[in-house]
Amino acid sequence: MYEILQKKRDKKSLSKDEIEFIIRGYTAGIIPDYQMSSFLMATYLSEMSPKETSYLTESMLYSGETLSIAPKGVVDKHSTGGVGDKTSFIIAPIAAAAGVKVPMISGRGLGHTGGTLDKLDAISGINTSINSRSFIKQIHDIGCVFGGQTKKIAPADKKIYALRDVTATVESIPLITASIMSKKLAEGINGLVLDIKTGNGAFMSKKSQAIALGESLKNTALSFNKNGYIFLTDMSQPLGNAVGHSLELIECIEVLRGKGPKDLMNLSLELSAAMIHLGGQAKTFNKAKELANELINSGAALNKFNETIQYQGGDSSFIKNYKLLPTSEKTVHIKATKSGKVSSMNNKGIGLACIEIGGGRKVKTDKINFAAGFYFHKKIGDKVAKGDKLVSIHYDQKFKNAIPMLKHQFQEDLIEITSTSKKTLLPKLIYKRSSFWSSK
Ligand code: URA
Repeated sequence: MYEILQKKRDKKSLSKDEIEFIIRGYTAGIIPDYQMSSFLMATYLSEMSPKETSYLTESMLYSGETLSIAPKGVVDKHSTGGVGDKTSFIIAPIAAAAGVKVPMISGRGLGHTGGTLDKLDAISGINTSINSRSFIKQIHDIGCVFGGQTKKIAPADKKIYALRDVTATVESIPLITASIMSKKLAEGINGLVLDIKTGNGAFMSKKSQAIALGESLKNTALSFNKNGYIFLTDMSQPLGNAVGHSLELIECIEVLRGKGPKDLMNLSLELSAAMIHLGGQAKTFNKAKELANELINSGAALNKFNETIQYQGGDSSFIKNYKLLPTSEKTVHIKATKSGKVSSMNNKGIGLACIEIGGGRKVKTDKINFAAGFYFHKKIGDKVAKGDKLVSIHYDQKFKNAIPMLKHQFQEDLIEITSTSKKTLLPKLIYKRSSFWSSK
């Protein structure tokens, strides 16, 4: 291990055997945390070649069990996460209703961003800890699963991620690539849609970093003969209008009814079209998008969402009656103190503000308040008159001390209002969409 550390420190490439030695040794508890920490920091500082990244992914992938669902038509999506990013609940049922097999394994909230698995916990009775046999059966029965990473899927990633979290080595492109791809490949996918977020609410806030991550994910996917789509999308303001667990679920159902906010609707249609195309259920992307639209209009996608929740033991009656989801005790409307138009939003600050009312965790053991959150009445480019509602805060009485501070933050910092005569740069929802296809 000492010699390998010297090599990586001196920016030399590691062989497949050397990388396997590290991952096997660390997962088995033979290599101690201090040597692994040194390896992670050396990798963070020296980076890795595409070949090394692929070896690292492979070693992490085979540190646990891999699912074998079907030889083709199995497609998942990974988003690098953000504020109000809730598309999984919309696109998984759309794609499954089109005939794609969707093993949607998601994670919990991280820092200022929310997690799909936490949002699922807002649904009474739902089980997301599904063993491999039941997981595969559910996919074959109804085409869609919402689950969490089990102990058996890429255990090396679980152990390494926990160490990265406390050694300032999370934001490394090869480490992120191997972490994401080892889990996705273990699900037995044939195709993967990658939604890479950029903007101040994303982990990769700079476009150049987000593009580099996309390239690395693409190279690794291709080295495993997988097909994919890469989207570079905006996270400089919340996606949709709702932020917070229950509020986001409600917004997803609205989209599945064809009535959701335009940005969320558009991105969901694009992402689900990519899944449908990769899953072989439409010949072209445009045909796949038409099909996605039809599946919303016919109610088939909402039915699939309902069916998936029920299959996993959840009480789906909230789909017809939103009050059956955790609901906040109080709502306060924050109003504009001046007229003009919204020119920018501090999206990371918005994610952090949600934690102040219990809508996220400050420490690992914190319990999430599912009812807590924000509903934005104005977004970038919208005209505002003094006294207009900017945002509604949904909170429980025990968080009331946070409200004066949040009111001040929303009026002074989190939502910037400038004169209507000043030009505002409207963020594009989708900066780039591309696809890649394995030659095998
Ligand atoms: N998500 C992951 O699964 N892994 C990372 O390293 C970063 C984000």
